[in-house]
Amino acid sequence: MTLAQELSGPAAGTGDPVLEVSGMSVDIRIDRDWVRIVEDVSLTVRPGETVGLVGESGSGKTVTSLAIMHLLPPNARIHGSVRVNGRELVGLRGRELDRIRGPEMAMIFQEPRRSLNPAFTVGDQVAESVRRHRRTDRRTAWRRAVELFDLVGIPDPGRRASAYPHEFSGGMCQRVMLAMALACEPQLLIADEPTTALDVTVQRQVLALIGEVQERLGLGVLLITHDLGVVAEVCDRAAVMYAGRISEQGPVTDLFDRTAHPYTAGLLHAMPDPVRHADRMGSIPGMVPPPDQFVDGCRFAPRCPFAADECAAPGIALRDVSVGAHEHTVRCARSGEIRPAEAFHD
Ligand SMILES: Nc1ncnc2c1ncn2[C@@H]1O[C@H](COP(=O)(O)OP(=O)(O)OP(=O)(O)O)[C@@H](O)[C@H]1O
Ligand SMILES: [Mg+2]
Repeated sequence: MTLAQELSGPAAGTGDPVLEVSGMSVDIRIDRDWVRIVEDVSLTVRPGETVGLVGESGSGKTVTSLAIMHLLPPNARIHGSVRVNGRELVGLRGRELDRIRGPEMAMIFQEPRRSLNPAFTVGDQVAESVRRHRRTDRRTAWRRAVELFDLVGIPDPGRRASAYPHEFSGGMCQRVMLAMALACEPQLLIADEPTTALDVTVQRQVLALIGEVQERLGLGVLLITHDLGVVAEVCDRAAVMYAGRISEQGPVTDLFDRTAHPYTAGLLHAMPDPVRHADRMGSIPGMVPPPDQFVDGCRFAPRCPFAADECAAPGIALRDVSVGAHEHTVRCARSGEIRPAEAFHD
């Protein structure tokens, strides 16, 4: 049996969720106070599906992904529920957590080179992950590492496995990270901005590779990015995050064609447009506020062209704006009254 067959899961987008996050909040202790950085996040990823988590810098994407992986710093606490293959992770510790974290979910980070140890060959590092996952001898683990390098498209994998990270380009390091993540045969891959440190051509290659590996292995992928263009290209569904909350979530086609939140409209407006000049690229005036400056009510209101009195009321409900069978939800007090697509102009 080939490695891909051995690892393969059920068909895309079907089956029970590999990841089910519901009502998850994250607090970080800053000085003597607990500050809520991420609030009431709910997300589902099914086998073979790619779900985007998109938002500007500082919106809480990394904190969300670290919380799901239970890799938050010790001054953080998590509320709500994170289920991986139906099992609750919140409240587990140490060995219990390791039993799920390695084998069932893996994460790749924004800067691959910083996640690799410069003192060991890339082959040794992937083989070590294999050995941590399965009790095999060194030679078997090394062979497996070479197979994984082949799977992620590293040319001449047998020879390249003996190289050190500094001998690899950024794109190749990201492939090594992906091989390392796959060494544990996870069903869920969380990729935090896996391409932002890379140039555009290599970005496309890495995204295509993730898609290819996913299709072959039936992985569920949570892809974190600030770029709606990437979401359009590779995701089935996406959640748009602003100031620690999900403002809109739904199938990618709905986010683009039936945009329900002015923030999503702003991100769409800020996408580079090949027809317009790059220097005319739109942007949303203002910035994401830091967590200690979140306002009551809608946090986007200070930047929103539609802001009205009702936006200041706390507890804006999540509304279902689905048209088809797939759920499309928005958290906007003026949903239904406004046309977000008209929010931003040049
Ligand atoms: N350990 C921490 N202590 C205090 N504040 C933190 C900590 N980690 C993150 N934050 C704050 O939480 C907010 C969300 O940060 P996060 O890194 O999740 O954003 P992001 O969406 O991943 O941004 P980027 O696109 O720049 O990676 C930011 O305001 C950040 O300063
Ligand atoms: Mg981040």
